[in-house]
Formats: sequence, structure tokens, C-alpha cells
Amino acid sequence: MSTRVIDGKRLADNLIREVSEQVQHLLDADLPAPGLAVVLVGEDPASAVYVRNKIKRAREAGMRSIEKRLSEDCTQETLEAIIEELNQREDVHGILVQLPLPKHLSAERVIRLIAPQKDVDGFHPHNVGLLATGQASLIPCTPLGCLEILQRELGDLSGKHAVIVGRSNIVGKPMANLLLQANCTITVVHSKTHQANLLARQADILVAAVGQPELIDESWVKPGAVVIDVGINAVEQAGKRKLVGDVNFSKVAPFAKAITPVPGGVGPMTIACLMKNTLVAAQYARDQANGLHHTLS
Ligand code: GUN
Repeated sequence: MSTRVIDGKRLADNLIREVSEQVQHLLDADLPAPGLAVVLVGEDPASAVYVRNKIKRAREAGMRSIEKRLSEDCTQETLEAIIEELNQREDVHGILVQLPLPKHLSAERVIRLIAPQKDVDGFHPHNVGLLATGQASLIPCTPLGCLEILQRELGDLSGKHAVIVGRSNIVGKPMANLLLQANCTITVVHSKTHQANLLARQADILVAAVGQPELIDESWVKPGAVVIDVGINAVEQAGKRKLVGDVNFSKVAPFAKAITPVPGGVGPMTIACLMKNTLVAAQYARDQANGLHHTLS
């Protein structure tokens, strides 16, 4: 069987090009460029890399970026005051607080404070509820990127059986809701599931989002399945640090119809979808200012 290795970087470049064309339309109409505010608390090296990439991609898409860096020991009140300021600013259309936060801070409280129409991560309970009830909302970037990849690979997803490995609020749960909305049959497996690999082996679509390096081997995969690897795990192999996914690529790839690599698969699409969400938030703000009331899409 010949396996397609999905080029997430190329798909992301295409999506960013489409977004930047839409940004140009806003500029041509004398509207401000979409503004994305990124808040980073502390010095976590992985988070710093993600934030740097998000800001770089925002600039490439023709957007403005506003960076707020806070020290590791900042208080909940300081962080909340920053969010309130960003909620008020007319030049900020999207707000993202990089997770995880230091342990003494409540991510839940911070996310609840972000204005839902600026919540480009789609983590606010308002947006979570809209997605769960099949209404237009800002959708979490990683599941949105996975959906885009799956639709390009498979076209109509109706009737496909999707197994999602992992039940996080950031990926597993919204992925399940999105694929349900696309008329898939959904199974979510997690750490308490018995014989998860046997359930996964029934899947036409397998999405791995557990954060366990190379957990998924060929015993989890039906021949001909499309495998989406959301994991990004730093491991030491032969004395060298490298990134691996949740899928053991060399064992699984021979059996898959198509598979995303790590790095270069889902990661770039996540960031491209953040740009798309920021554009949608800016278009929504423009329409609100013009007295047009529509829902986010
Ligand atoms: N940390 C890991 N993934 C994400 C994400 O999608 N958004 C934010 N804000 N933080 C993250």
C-alpha cells in the first residue's frame, strides 16, 4: 500500500496565503489590519517557541501582533487586568493566552474573562457551548486544522468512524464535537479505556492527542486508515533531543492510507488556523461596527 505523508507546512502556507488575501481586502477598505494579542507568562521554553511562531505567522499574514510578556511570579490580578485592557482595545481582535500557565494561576478564570468574540483559541465556555450545540463559533485551532486536513484527504466525512485518543479540552473534546458535526461516528478513548487499541483498530480516521511519545503502534491502526498525529513530545534518542508524535511513525506509516508527520504535520496547521480565527474575529468586529449582526463562522 502506498502511504501519503501529509505536508502540513504546505497546507498551512496555502491557508495563510488565503488569509492574507482577505486581510488585504480589509486594508483596501481602509479598515485596520486584524490585531492578535498573545500573552505569555513565565519562561517555559516550548511555550516561548510557540509564541514566537504565532507572532511570525501573524506578521506574514499581514496582521498586527501585540505581545504581552509577564514574569513567572505574576499575580492572577495582574494577568486579569491585562486581559481586561485587551478586551477594551479596538485594535485587538484576537486574544490568546499561551497555556500552560504557572501552577499558582487559574487558566479557567483567565479564559472566562476573555471576551468570547475575541477568543481566537475557542476555549471560552461560550464558544465551547456553541460548538457542542452545532452553532457557529470560534473553534479551537488544533482540531480545526485536523478537520481541514481530513476534509482534503477524504472529502465528505459522513459515516466515517473516527476514533480520538485523548479527551483534553484543547483537542480531544472539541475534535469529537467537530467530527460529530461532520456526520462522523465518534469513539473517544482515554487512559481508563479497556483495550483502547482494539477500538482504535476499527477507525477509518484515527486522531492521536494524548501526549505520550509513540504510544500508537500498528496494533492500533486498521489498514487504510487516515492517521492524524497531534502529539509533540521532546525525547532523547541516542543522546540527541528530538521531537516525536504520539504515533510511532515508522511502525504505523506502512499501514496508513495517509499520515501526518511530526514535526511538519498538524503543528503548522494549528498556527494557520489561529490566523484564520483572528481574521474571522476582525471581520465580525467590522460587521458589528456596521450594525450587521451575524454569527461567527
Ligand atoms: N498550549 C498548547 N496548545 C495550545 C493552544 O492551542 N492554545 C494555547 N493558548 N495554548 C496552548
